Amino acid sequence: MIRKIALTTAAVLALSSGVALAAGGHKEITDVDFAHEGPFGKFDQFQLQRGLQVYTEVCSACHGLKYVPIRTLADPGGPQLPEDQVRAYAAQFTVTDKETGEDREGKPTDHFPVSGMEGAPDLSLMTKARAGFSGPYGTGMSQLFNGMGGAEYMYSILTHYEENPECAPDGIDGFYYNTSFDKGAIPDSCKDEKGISTIPGSWIAMPQPLGDDQVTYADGTPATVSQMAEDVSAFLMWAAEPKLMDRREAGFKAVIFLIILASLLYLTNKRIWASVKGKTA
Ligand code: HEC
Repeated sequence: MIRKIALTTAAVLALSSGVALAAGGHKEITDVDFAHEGPFGKFDQFQLQRGLQVYTEVCSACHGLKYVPIRTLADPGGPQLPEDQVRAYAAQFTVTDKETGEDREGKPTDHFPVSGMEGAPDLSLMTKARAGFSGPYGTGMSQLFNGMGGAEYMYSILTHYEENPECAPDGIDGFYYNTSFDKGAIPDSCKDEKGISTIPGSWIAMPQPLGDDQVTYADGTPATVSQMAEDVSAFLMWAAEPKLMDRREAGFKAVIFLIILASLLYLTNKRIWASVKGKTA
């Protein structure tokens, strides 16, 4: 039995270490050391603020964040903007009031707008929706051990635009080759006789949204493509999972509680049976 468990564990671990990703996904995912990863990870408030800036100045031209209330920008553990800045942020939007039916200035209690471009998905939950990118072929272990998840997928999509590959030098009209996106179209010339793609990734309808120095960060951080991609990915991770830290903390407390409870039960058990076993506890 124990042998079986050990063998299964070994197999799972072997599968998880990148092999599964390479075999299944046909896409390249870069591992990024995000501040929020690991058992004690916390969102970096300033990174979230920079990410909000990238989202606002670049991504929001096409993508919405309709499930995220603007007031959460002031929440502890998030970008933690001062209340007056949150009000100013909300005020830039025009919202149709649900009660009066009239247009008015946005308020912190409103949500971010919906996607402005047809075909551009809402990004509120995107980092969670794509967190399981290592499945169905992967085991999810890479996520657990390397902390790779939806934020990495987001980062990779934004940084893995490449020249058209040799098998399709002209690409596909209106689409862009991206080695991290495997849900798009692939020309037949890039497939083998079984119809399986011979290249990583596929063609995506989103043009490369980032270019060096596209935004100017107030804190002086150099706005390279990779920096902006990392910041906006962290921000979108927070948007999808704002209570990440709270959940982790609750988990830790539960584990500590269970360890204490288990020790007490063990000692109680010894004491109760002590007379029968002829030993003193
Ligand atoms: C010019 C409009 C435009 C801009 C600007 C833009 N996107 Fe997109 N995005 C799209 C479209 C269109 C799609 C759908 C692509 C497809 O399915 O082929 C998309 C898809 C995506 C996806 C989904 C990929 C998947 O797995 O389905 C993500 C993630 C994404 N965009 C993130 C971003 C981020 C982050 C930014 C800002 C840095 C951004 N986009 C800026 C138009 C845009």
